Amino acid sequence: MTILVTGGAGFIGANFILDWHAAGGEPVVNLDKLTYAGNLANLASLEGDPRHHFVHGDIGDGALVARLLAEHRVRAVLNFAAESHVDRSIAGPAAFVQTNVAGTFGLLEAARDYWNALPPDEQGAWRFLHVSTDEVYGTLAADAPAFTETTAYAPNSPYSASKAASDHLVRAWHHTYGLPVLTTNCSNNYGRFQFPEKLIPLVIHKALAGEALPVYGDGRQVRDWLHVSDHCAAIRRVLASGTPGGVWNVGGLNQKTNLEVVQAICALLDAARPRSDGASYAAQIRFVADRPGHDRRYAIDAAKLRRELGWEPRHDFESGLRQTVAWYLEHEDWVRNVTSGAYRDWAARQYAA
Ligand code: NAD
Ligand code: DAU
Repeated sequence: MTILVTGGAGFIGANFILDWHAAGGEPVVNLDKLTYAGNLANLASLEGDPRHHFVHGDIGDGALVARLLAEHRVRAVLNFAAESHVDRSIAGPAAFVQTNVAGTFGLLEAARDYWNALPPDEQGAWRFLHVSTDEVYGTLAADAPAFTETTAYAPNSPYSASKAASDHLVRAWHHTYGLPVLTTNCSNNYGRFQFPEKLIPLVIHKALAGEALPVYGDGRQVRDWLHVSDHCAAIRRVLASGTPGGVWNVGGLNQKTNLEVVQAICALLDAARPRSDGASYAAQIRFVADRPGHDRRYAIDAAKLRRELGWEPRHDFESGLRQTVAWYLEHEDWVRNVTSGAYRDWAARQYAA
């Protein structure tokens, strides 16, 4: 049997597939549309490996998904595929509604048809795991308690609204049709293969290029950072032992302001690759116009995941960030590759002001 991973050429999906195989998991069919964020170079180490079968396509293509489910006798779908960048959702929300809402709908329908036709013993073990975000819960005041699984949804950006809509579809397909779904809502991830439009790889890349490091607004917005391999481990745990219909928050217990994160990256680069003029990379920090509708603070209460499934993050932020900065320094060819073409056009527009 096989699992179907969608969006497996992106940041978290690729890390998940690599970690899944390292943990001895069964073969993976990887369905990815290869948008600007999908990069098969992330999976170069699996080239020729029969445990990885890549399929170029859209999660909303019901006929394609139906064929893949049947041909590979898929026992679980893990839905990572999404448009994932908040700034892009503000500039152009249509793709977010198309993939995150309509695409998830198409995937759910294909999954439901397949699952309905399975013999009862296989139906019981079958799973649809939906990878979602803490952003569906909206924003927190500085002293408010962290998001739990029962926090009311209050998405504020086109991205988070589209993810919230997809979470509701997944929930309804369980409640109405009995599809055995699992949902995870995770905080900000960092690690290898993250597209350099997101804060951490963007700052590393711009620092080394001698460019301004753009900090939105006052830089005091708080995010709860989790190493991507801890997120992948949580997903494996939920897939193996989560009760269908359940929701689990995943978070790093690691709240930092954006300015703290940017300064920490500068300090690591100062040590690893000092600027030729002897100044700190922090001299490149610039406060720029804020993101419209910018959520002030996210924080995750992951007590349910710890209590029910025994998950704990293994990376602390200090060593995880050091390892991540080292990875980007050692993989400048990867960065050069993804910072060409479409990304450059996007970045030029985004930061022109
Ligand atoms: P990413 O943007 O790096 O990758 C998304 C992948 O999905 C890409 O490979 C892209 O080609 C593919 N894709 C996009 N539209 C598709 C479609 N219609 N059909 C098939 N494939 C398509 O995103 P990521 O950061 O790896 O995030 C993965 C998932 O995790 C997303 O659902 C995101 O909402 C969620 N998430 C991300 C974070 C984070 O910090 N990055 C945190 C919590 C949850
Ligand atoms: O919380 C989980 C979410 O984390 C995921 O669901 C999203 O897919 C993922 O992109 C991420 O969303 P954020 O908007 O929090 O991530 P981003 O890296 O874009 O920004 C992190 C913070 O840094 C945010 O407060 C905005 C700020 N920022 C970002 C960029 C790109 C800057 O100050 N300057 C920048 O140039």
